[in-house]
Amino acid sequence: MPSIEIPRTYRVKSFGCQMNVYDGERMGELLAEQGITAAPEGEEADLVVLNTCHIREKAAEKVYSDIGRLRRTDGSSPLIAVAGCVAQAEGDEIMKRSPAVKMVVGPQAYHRLPEMIRVAAEGKRVTDTDMPAETKFGALPRRRRSGPTAFLTVQEGCDKFCTYCVVPYTRGAEVSRPHADLIDEALRLVDAGAREITLLGQNVNAWTGEDAKGRQVGLDGLIRELAEIPDLVRIRYTTSHPNDFTGGLIAAHGEVAKLMPFLHLPVQAGSDRVLKAMNRSHTAESYLKVLEKVRAARPDIALSGDFIVGFPGETDAEFEETLALVDAVGYAQCFSFKYSPRAGTPAATMTEQVPAEVMTERIMRLQAALGRDQTAFNAASVGKTCEVLVERKGKLPGQWLGKSPWLQSVYFEGDVAVGDLVRVELVDSGYNAVSGRLLETVAA
Ligand code: SAH
Ligand code: SF4
Ligand code: F3S
Repeated sequence: MPSIEIPRTYRVKSFGCQMNVYDGERMGELLAEQGITAAPEGEEADLVVLNTCHIREKAAEKVYSDIGRLRRTDGSSPLIAVAGCVAQAEGDEIMKRSPAVKMVVGPQAYHRLPEMIRVAAEGKRVTDTDMPAETKFGALPRRRRSGPTAFLTVQEGCDKFCTYCVVPYTRGAEVSRPHADLIDEALRLVDAGAREITLLGQNVNAWTGEDAKGRQVGLDGLIRELAEIPDLVRIRYTTSHPNDFTGGLIAAHGEVAKLMPFLHLPVQAGSDRVLKAMNRSHTAESYLKVLEKVRAARPDIALSGDFIVGFPGETDAEFEETLALVDAVGYAQCFSFKYSPRAGTPAATMTEQVPAEVMTERIMRLQAALGRDQTAFNAASVGKTCEVLVERKGKLPGQWLGKSPWLQSVYFEGDVAVGDLVRVELVDSGYNAVSGRLLETVAA
């Protein structure tokens, strides 16, 4: 194999969840530290990192079409690294199927990318899907850049083993990052311009750590401490598991003003039999109880969830229970998916897989119900006044886009800049967004 030069420019393409977005940013920072710079928009990069997602079949297939698309007209390709969850799950297969791929690196090993690039530059292909005991975080460069909103991974991995899900296999066991490291990273992000931090984890509310005084604290303790950072104005967290929801976290929703009134709490289905077959270890009732308590602590909380339709064996009557749960909650927004069998998970070999046309019919009905509720939630916010953190320019001249406390996209016009915190009156609404009238700038 001919030797390849050390790349001068890179591009990282991240798919899947917000944790991949975080990892993608960190890979970029790591490469920049090596003197490899981000390729300008529209220009080809010497090194392309495909940071992949394995959660559903369609997501995983994207990798191969993306690799194909990177091929140049003369048949050559940039240096390609496949990272993320498909790398972890199907590393060897990718190497076999795609000769253009020179590096395969799992989600817990990407701090070793610089070394892998040196090996690849010698013309060798290299795979690293280790889950080393020492975590990648210590080997990553310090945070120096941030937009107004930043992600901060506080917890990784999953021990829940829902029977449909690949995450415990691709990300490994639940690990909490140390308290001091997180405070340090948050301070640096805020120094670099972050005004909102979203704490991330596959089971973020399972985070635990020891604070500076040696006390064992949960996610609520971490949130309370982050809320003390003066220039940090908003805190969010995602994704939670119903079973790890503590009284402390519920109380924090009522007491910490910087903790935004939004909760993404996936339920997956409304039938207890299906939930049990999914190994979710909560019931529809225990889930609704958690929401009830959070609502009591923070009455205006906007709720969000994830749903899977067509889990093996799901009957029409059981699916109706999902619709009933949706009606009972009144979500502000949700994600919903057709069940996708994933090799190696227990559900993939369950008999009674639900026919495709039944799944299609169910997802359409579910999404109609969720769409109705999302539109109603947005409509109910018209007339309210709230703060909006300006994230970027809108498509129309003079238009800006930011998020309301309830995570709605808010469009408005006025003399502001990215990163400003402004007060807005919400005046109109649709399914995807609300529009506002600028009242004043709260913090520039
Ligand atoms: N840790 C989170 C999110 C995991 S992945 C949680 O426990 O809720 C995000 C979502 O993808 C899941 O909530 C689930 O709704 C969906 N998902 C996971 N595996 C799936 C599969 N095999 N088929 C369809 N959807 C799936
Ligand atoms: Fe997957 Fe379940 Fe873990 Fe969420 S809790 S990541 S759905 S196994
Ligand atoms: Fe996808 Fe891995 Fe996230 S499978 S959803 S990128 S944890």
